[in-house]
Amino acid sequence: MALPKLPLFILAPMDDVTDTVFRQIISSCASPDLCFSEFVNVEGLMSDGRKRLLRKLERSKDEPPLIAHLWGLNPDDFEEIADQVASGKLAKEIGLEDNFGGIDLNMGCPVRAVTRMGACSALMNNRDLAQDIIESTKKGAKGRLPISVKTRLGYSEIDPSWTQFLFSQNLDMLSIHLRTVKEMSLTNAHHEELERIKQERDSLSRGTLLIANGDILSRGQGDKLINKYGIDGVMIGRGVFHDPYAFSKESPWPKFTARERAELFMTHLKLYESWADKPNKGVSRLNKYAKIYINGFDGAKELRTELALAHSVQQMLDRTGAFLQQA
Ligand SMILES: Cc1cc2nc3c(=O)[nH]c(=O)nc-3n(C[C@H](O)[C@H](O)[C@H](O)COP(=O)(O)O)c2cc1C
Repeated sequence: MALPKLPLFILAPMDDVTDTVFRQIISSCASPDLCFSEFVNVEGLMSDGRKRLLRKLERSKDEPPLIAHLWGLNPDDFEEIADQVASGKLAKEIGLEDNFGGIDLNMGCPVRAVTRMGACSALMNNRDLAQDIIESTKKGAKGRLPISVKTRLGYSEIDPSWTQFLFSQNLDMLSIHLRTVKEMSLTNAHHEELERIKQERDSLSRGTLLIANGDILSRGQGDKLINKYGIDGVMIGRGVFHDPYAFSKESPWPKFTARERAELFMTHLKLYESWADKPNKGVSRLNKYAKIYINGFDGAKELRTELALAHSVQQMLDRTGAFLQQA
């Protein structure tokens, strides 16, 4: 499948957040051009845990194309899963109407639990393995889907040799969260690094789309970066927590009434209830989303406190419904 036309506005992968339900909500507000799945472990997909992990790759027809965002350590597993994704076998297994739009390799996650194993951002310090993983993924995909990497600027420091290494891998797309691993998300993203990285891309790998990520909160801000640096697109993550319409040209969110915000939350709750295997186990997860919708109006804090005490999705629906009745 070819990528949509440029420039690309992409919803960033966020583990335990950007499941199909949330992506449907964001797409119904103002659609990104592409979405990434949550990160899915290739070794897990080759194990008894496969069925559970496949849920992270589900997609509804109301969403834009989905990139399967993978992580792991074993190049053979990357090759096998890339073959399953690119051939459409995996999409068929989970009942998707269309195949995935591409395969992305996570080489940026800074979380200790994965870097301790030598995975994700730790691959910056093991380039032989990083290269093996990229080559094995390409071998499995056999040119049937675009292959991309999502990464950061370097491990402890901004490291031009890392981005240069990635531009020598002949990737279809490179998304860069403009911070180092060490910086986590604690500093401002280094947007100014885009000038150098764009030059590297132009001299080393013109065919690799360059996507910027980090502290981009709106489509308007993304447009400015695209025009200033001549990059191919931007990826927005936490921006959608402040504004579910972050991908819109002119967001109506600041003017949304309490009623409209609560109604959008109800839609999320109902979609989640009909999708999840055990919806009531997801109550704490749903409370994370409540912070997005139930926000910015009188009584929001009180309603969120009530929602936090709920034990089931039905109770969350009832409490939000009661609020709507008197709103
Ligand atoms: C809750 C959460 C989960 C994340 N999970 C992933 C992930 O699975 N894979 C990944 O590459 N990045 C992950 N990220 C990083 C985001 O994709 C993005 O790079 C980062 O938040 C910076 O972009 P932003 O400033 O637009 O949020 C996660 C971020 C958050 C906040």
